[in-house]
Amino acid sequence: MSPYVESLEHKRVWWKEATFYQVYPASFKDSNGDGLGDIPGLISKVPYIASLGVDVVWLSPMYDSPQKDMGYDISDYETVYPPYGTVEDVEKLVKECHQHGLKLILDLVVNHTSDQHEWFKESRSSKDNPKRNWYFWRPARYDQDGNRMPPTNYRSYFAGGTWTWDDNTEEYYLHLYDPSQPDLNWENADCRRAIYDSAMRFWLDKGIDGFRVDTVNKYSKHVDFPDAPITDSNSFIQPAAQFWCNGPRIHEFVKEMNNDVLSKYTTFDGQAVVTVGELSLTPEPEGVLRYVSAKEKELDMVFQFDITHLGQDNGFQDKYDFAPWKLPEMKRIVEKWQTFIEETDGWTTVFNENHDNGRSVSRFASDVPEWREQSAKMLAIWLIAQTGTLFLYQGQEIGMINAPKDWGIEEYRDVEAQGHWEEAVRQDANGTDPGRTERILHGLQLMARDHSRLPFQWDSSANGGFTTGKPWMRAHDLYPKINAENQGKDVNSVLAFYKRLLYLRKEHKDVFVYGAFELVDPENENTFVFRKRYRDRTAVVAMNFTDSPQPAFGAMEMMLLVSSYSKVVLGTLQPFEGRIYVDY
Ligand code: NOJ
Repeated sequence: MSPYVESLEHKRVWWKEATFYQVYPASFKDSNGDGLGDIPGLISKVPYIASLGVDVVWLSPMYDSPQKDMGYDISDYETVYPPYGTVEDVEKLVKECHQHGLKLILDLVVNHTSDQHEWFKESRSSKDNPKRNWYFWRPARYDQDGNRMPPTNYRSYFAGGTWTWDDNTEEYYLHLYDPSQPDLNWENADCRRAIYDSAMRFWLDKGIDGFRVDTVNKYSKHVDFPDAPITDSNSFIQPAAQFWCNGPRIHEFVKEMNNDVLSKYTTFDGQAVVTVGELSLTPEPEGVLRYVSAKEKELDMVFQFDITHLGQDNGFQDKYDFAPWKLPEMKRIVEKWQTFIEETDGWTTVFNENHDNGRSVSRFASDVPEWREQSAKMLAIWLIAQTGTLFLYQGQEIGMINAPKDWGIEEYRDVEAQGHWEEAVRQDANGTDPGRTERILHGLQLMARDHSRLPFQWDSSANGGFTTGKPWMRAHDLYPKINAENQGKDVNSVLAFYKRLLYLRKEHKDVFVYGAFELVDPENENTFVFRKRYRDRTAVVAMNFTDSPQPAFGAMEMMLLVSSYSKVVLGTLQPFEGRIYVDY
């Protein structure tokens, strides 16, 4: 029996019932016309966020950074990227959120720093520098012909290797992401203590209410760094997550972080601070439970990514070589991550967008003009009826969609998109994978991280009202049609629907937030139907994932709580319609 089996009902805690709203600072609201969003811009929109009915703001990194990876490459944890504002601005933001009854969590990015961080500059300065071991340095290997080779054959996230040669001390350093993002060495206790002080206590002392913990399961690696088996014959670099993910000391490190730092702080209203970890490459429920079991005192909850990996193969070399999927596959994923916490002391999260993915309307339903609003509403139903803590991404509440397909590759600014594109061009040109560029372009049009980073569409003025200057990323061509101002005036808008659903989620939280999940008709490729139960109450959620009418699930004896259409047709689910029935 699993060590995490507990009572039939989940213990109630504030963050389980809360809805989180993610803000990507570069693209939310620009206050000074430099084309980049900023903290004062965000402050001016706190009333808007509060009006949605969400409870917590998660702010993606706003720390000082060379922005190679949009702030996930931090050069100083204790200052704010100047174009975004100052530490005082963030202090104002904390106050403003709290005054509106919202909590604020920051992004904790401590698997790696930027190569411009003082710690790394010192580390790379000499082999005997006291901070040398705060990062991973290894000597070169040499092949039979005497050519210098990296210490291992690992593939990084951004379509290159994980080791970069440093001329100064003539060794390689490790980076799971871009070469400008060297990995911190958590084996070193001084390094861990510095992380706790600089990246965590500094901000907790300013009154933030918790952290989203970036790439949390990669702090512990197999530091003997064995070579990875060759599974990709086109390449020297190979997927090697088994050597740098969920390593031998990971649970010790996460427990220490919780015990030494997080457990000493409370939220502005006196409750436990919250953590949500980014847990990639952990496919088994038992592996996830070890992080989120209340008993283990590690993280409150995590993001598990099977849902956003739909169509992405293993998420590594073929991430953007789109693999078509069918609805039963999605249902199995939802069922797996809805049910794994049942009768345990663990918890789950519900989301289908963030800053690392294409927009859900474009990926999971339809973004053509005829169906995009219905799609957005149906996906809203899909989200709000699921058990777990709900996370929404900025713009999702107005049904923002992917960049238009006729935009060229030059509009894709993300380091990951560029890496995969350049790799595809090389492989196409050298004949190792003819036709790859076309396939990768298609995958990027659907799934690139860039889509979620387009400026927020506030109104129909220039650039969607995001900036009075030139936006750092082009505003979506459809901002005159899809924007928050228009939708605020329309009772049938996606925005109005989200507000209503968030209200219903709270009102029916027993069933929606805490209920047990049961899949109905798993093999149906057109409709997605599930039940939620809590004690003697049942809800049925029925959704049509196609653009043609489908027979409605026979729940007619129940009460229709909500439909995404203003008029329902008995016995039929209209294209991209979602409905919730309840029997109490
Ligand atoms: C996960 C973040 O969500 C992503 O945007 C970033 O590139 C990597 N971690 C590296 O920090």
